[in-house]
Amino acid sequence: MPCLDSFNRSISYLRVSVTDRCNLRCVYCMSAEGVPWRPHDEVLRYEEIETVVRAAAELGIGKVRLTGGEPLVRLGMVDLVAMLARIPGLDDLAMTTNGILLARYAEELRAAGLRRVNVSLDTLRSERFRRITRLGELSDTLEGIAAAKQAGLVPVKVNTVVIRGLNDDEVVDFARLTYAPPPASAPHSPQLWGVRGARGGGGEWHVRFIEVMPLGNNADWAGNGYVPMSEVRERIEEELGELIPARLGDGSGPARYYRLPGAQGTIGFITPISEHFCYQCNRLRLTADGKLRPCLLSDYEIDLRTPLRRGATIEDIKHLIAEAVHAKPERHHLSEQVIPRGRAMSEIGG
Ligand code: 5AD
Ligand code: SF4
Repeated sequence: MPCLDSFNRSISYLRVSVTDRCNLRCVYCMSAEGVPWRPHDEVLRYEEIETVVRAAAELGIGKVRLTGGEPLVRLGMVDLVAMLARIPGLDDLAMTTNGILLARYAEELRAAGLRRVNVSLDTLRSERFRRITRLGELSDTLEGIAAAKQAGLVPVKVNTVVIRGLNDDEVVDFARLTYAPPPASAPHSPQLWGVRGARGGGGEWHVRFIEVMPLGNNADWAGNGYVPMSEVRERIEEELGELIPARLGDGSGPARYYRLPGAQGTIGFITPISEHFCYQCNRLRLTADGKLRPCLLSDYEIDLRTPLRRGATIEDIKHLIAEAVHAKPERHHLSEQVIPRGRAMSEIGG
């Protein structure tokens, strides 16, 4: 039974932010001091998240992605994955992570029922990684990616937000990662290629480039670093040859996929600014503090935490989810300078 919104879009996907906290401070996401963390009692407990996901699954929303902040900094994440993986009607459970803690948890997450991960990675240079994330070590994320492939959390997709003056000079290097095995001319450290024998295949790299969105407290800064995907694509094609249309996954996400001639992995482009994909948007978002957000780029939210703590039943929550679905706006209005400033990205989870 598909869950249709007012514009006849089928809503089948819930992104769940499990924490607003993060072990990094990416320059485009947070200020150096970070955003003030929410107190623990404002954050949904695992049982509450489970209730929401159960209600969503009963409405036909069968795909869930755990995000943050950084989901793996919340204690007991493996337990949450196990709780959710048991819910009838939930047929896809994934996670978006910065990868720092992934090497530690990949096997356990897989065993608990997680299907796959997307890993955020904006640079392949360790010095620059430290500058962009303020706190991170590139090798941790690379080891996390390797561990995820090894554990069978595949396909691993790498998400790269392209920002002018920060990492736009690396798009060709990222594109080269999709060759596997790497060409003899591969420019980067051997550790990048150190993925062997991933279970069920999946050793290859899938890289997705994302246009930076103006949002939250960093809206103005992010706007200045905007690089359209047409430019990224041009740079890659100039250097490495024509991109061939490809498919990855179920094809329902916002990315358009391509392959370089002879490459194993895919290159995806996500164009929230230059070509919005709102007409095919299939998702709702649950913030860490229990607000259901019909659109990433609109500050309108429906509170689930209060009803949950007043003893709402699954049926009550289903009604509220249906209300959010109904309230989902047709599209965002960034091009008309309508910028959502209510929350930082780290509170919504992308
Ligand atoms: N625009 C686009 N993507 C963003 N992300 C964080 N902030 C922004 C932004 N302003 C990305 C992260 C991660 C995903 C969850 O969202 O890099 O890959
Ligand atoms: Fe970076 Fe993601 Fe953490 Fe924001 S939430 S600081 S983008 S790792």
